[in-house]
Amino acid sequence: MTVAAPTIADLETPALLLDEARMEANIARLRSRLDGLGVPLRPHLKTAKSVDVARLLMSGPAGPCAVSTLNEAEHFAAAGVRDILYAVGIAPAKLERVAALRAAGVDLTVILDSPEQAVAVADASRRHGQSIPALIEVDSDGHRAGVVPQDRAALVAIGRRLEEGGAKLRGVLTHAGGSYGCDTPSALEAMAEQERAAAVTAAGVLREAGLPCPVVSVGSTPTAHFARNFGGVTEVRAGVFVFFDLVMAGIGVCLPQDIALSVLATVIGHRLDKGWILVDAGWMALSRDRGTARQRVDQGYGVVCDLAGRPYPDLIVAEANQEHGVLSVRPGGTLPDLPIGARVRILPNHACATAAQHARYNLVAGTDPAVRAVWDRFGGW
Ligand SMILES: Cc1ncc(COP(=O)(O)O)c(C=O)c1O
Repeated sequence: MTVAAPTIADLETPALLLDEARMEANIARLRSRLDGLGVPLRPHLKTAKSVDVARLLMSGPAGPCAVSTLNEAEHFAAAGVRDILYAVGIAPAKLERVAALRAAGVDLTVILDSPEQAVAVADASRRHGQSIPALIEVDSDGHRAGVVPQDRAALVAIGRRLEEGGAKLRGVLTHAGGSYGCDTPSALEAMAEQERAAAVTAAGVLREAGLPCPVVSVGSTPTAHFARNFGGVTEVRAGVFVFFDLVMAGIGVCLPQDIALSVLATVIGHRLDKGWILVDAGWMALSRDRGTARQRVDQGYGVVCDLAGRPYPDLIVAEANQEHGVLSVRPGGTLPDLPIGARVRILPNHACATAAQHARYNLVAGTDPAVRAVWDRFGGW
């Protein structure tokens, strides 16, 4: 627990700011949407990696939640979370840590998409005298891992290896990461339906083969916000919605004024001959993520705002060195007057990547300069 600086003027820069009011509004927005569609949220905690944020995101102190590392699972388990989905394909060597968490009373589920992994999970289940539950990862959009739902033989073979080997087949999971490439409401709705249909089809294949499939888990922030129907789905996962970022704004899932995360930086120089203002936040503070480069509006390494969080017209971080950010305006724009020592707030391209560069969140609310609290976050695997 770090003591909060009185105001953002007292913070050493670069520093990560988290607008509590925006974060709470983002959480409330998705919750009410999913409540309306009658499906529970399993928040993905990989974005926040913070026990304090997790408590706001989860429906209760014991979860449920999803994580992207076993380190997250261990941190959240130590904080009392009991229902955890480790949503990255399981490496057999990690099963000892999985078994240790389960032996400590955590209902930890793993995911996999191959017979080899199913055998490893079954072997670990027998070795540790406990049925480790697994979801079969389904490929709903060709963007990453998973068994395609049409491959009935593979789905059933994996399911049987789990069940007959002493592990537990708990269901199916898919993540339509391809939704990050959509940027119209109709494309996002279609992707959400494609994600739902793939998971429900795969679940049907397993059930027809006499295998159990109680869990049908789908989700990404864009599809969770655009799905019209979650028929057959038992839970929705989403992560980056808690903070939002410029990539999500570019897709049309949020507005820039919904983005809860920003990096506080100080002006450290000028190259007016080149139209540059230099700040002390380079890629170490902002991350190297250039996710908006593929979108209609390339936001460089981030959009530059004043201390109240209002974007300066056309001012972006055009270049980033390790500890230098180079601010410049788009063609036709006017460089604002920002003397040495002036402070700015930079909205991130990708909230998960930017947050990962920092050890703590400085909590602020709206235009109030007070730092209300400091919340620690963790990294590592
Ligand atoms: C398996 C899985 N589920 C859910 C999510 C959450 O996606 P988002 O951050 O778009 O909400 C991710 C993100 O990478 C993921 O890998």
